[in-house]
Amino acid sequence: MPTLNQYINEVTIPGTREFANKAAGLNDCIDLTLGQSDFAPPASVKSAMIQAIQDNQLRYTHNRGLIALRTAIAHTLKEKFNVDYHPETEIIVTNGGSEAIDAVFRTIINPGDEVILPSPCYLGYEPIIKLLGAKVVLVDTSKTQLVPTPEAIKAAITDKTKAVLFNYPTNPTGKTLTYQQIKGLAAMLKDEDIFIVTDEIYSENVYDAPHHSFLEFQELRDKLFVINGLSKSHAITGARVGYVVSNAELITHVTSVHLYNAICVATPSQYGAIEAFKDSDTVKIMNKAYIERRDYLFDKLTELGLPVEKPQGAFYIFPDISAYNSSSYQFATDLLERERLAVVPGSAFSKFGEGHIRLSFASSMEELKEAMVRLERFLKEYK
Ligand SMILES: Cc1ncc(COP(=O)(O)O)c(C=O)c1O
Repeated sequence: MPTLNQYINEVTIPGTREFANKAAGLNDCIDLTLGQSDFAPPASVKSAMIQAIQDNQLRYTHNRGLIALRTAIAHTLKEKFNVDYHPETEIIVTNGGSEAIDAVFRTIINPGDEVILPSPCYLGYEPIIKLLGAKVVLVDTSKTQLVPTPEAIKAAITDKTKAVLFNYPTNPTGKTLTYQQIKGLAAMLKDEDIFIVTDEIYSENVYDAPHHSFLEFQELRDKLFVINGLSKSHAITGARVGYVVSNAELITHVTSVHLYNAICVATPSQYGAIEAFKDSDTVKIMNKAYIERRDYLFDKLTELGLPVEKPQGAFYIFPDISAYNSSSYQFATDLLERERLAVVPGSAFSKFGEGHIRLSFASSMEELKEAMVRLERFLKEYK
């Protein structure tokens, strides 16, 4: 047999999917594995997608996306963060946040490079970095309240470091960064010769304070990529709309990667996305429900004796199960087999996630209540 890409074995099915697939095969299973909203997408978004199809809008668009969509993104950035990014040259629409991550890393990474990931972290970064022959350098945030500090990031920088990635609000912990924390990181990073990639896909799902973007720190503009998208904010994970914001030179290169990979994002999805940028009500309604669910889970998990940080954003909660003498993988497997409750083992989010499980609260309150009944029963028996 001809040889495969030497790094292909680094890429395996993620823990989220593994447990979601197991859950799908079981009757009466409560599935708290995947990160997608249980809310319906806004009606205006659906109508715009249908209308686009009726109008035969099924041809390629500009590789960077419809200019009306990029303009809507630029307006949103101005309104939220008071920054000016040019829709023609500094924004590209991608197939979800996922393709944005892939295209950015493929634009900047050479084999042998190092990429710093504050961890526990989303499981979509490491495989891509490794597939490019680069090395992942994990920075443990568990001793600093799940926040990456400038000191810890600086200590991880070597002459091989190509980039550092920050994801906040963070999947899987629900932690986010304050303006002051971002400012501290930006002050340190402005003198470092490395790229900064931020994945702010949960920026709309924040519960205690408004989101601040790295875009607000213009001193980073020559080496910053900001990734965002509509999958989470508008409950359209299947529409595949994400985007990257950077400077014109870097976006030119991301466009080259993107156009050979995807040409463009599905045209009806782009029409839907234009409407999504006009809709700020849906996310407010969703966030109200997420706050209720978060508070319920936080109180209940605390009552069950599991140490847990209160999430400030995203829709995940990440309790500590290390008091139980079992790996997070075994714990999640036993929980699924005995109680038909599907969660994701913390080890899926790097070695620094071990000792935890991730529960998604993008599920109905009714399901969450039943999930807690099952978890309580499980914990009483579990050694
Ligand atoms: C942190 C983070 N980034 C990116 C993505 C991928 O988003 P999309 O569905 O838009 O590709 C996810 C999905 O769960 C995520 O949690």
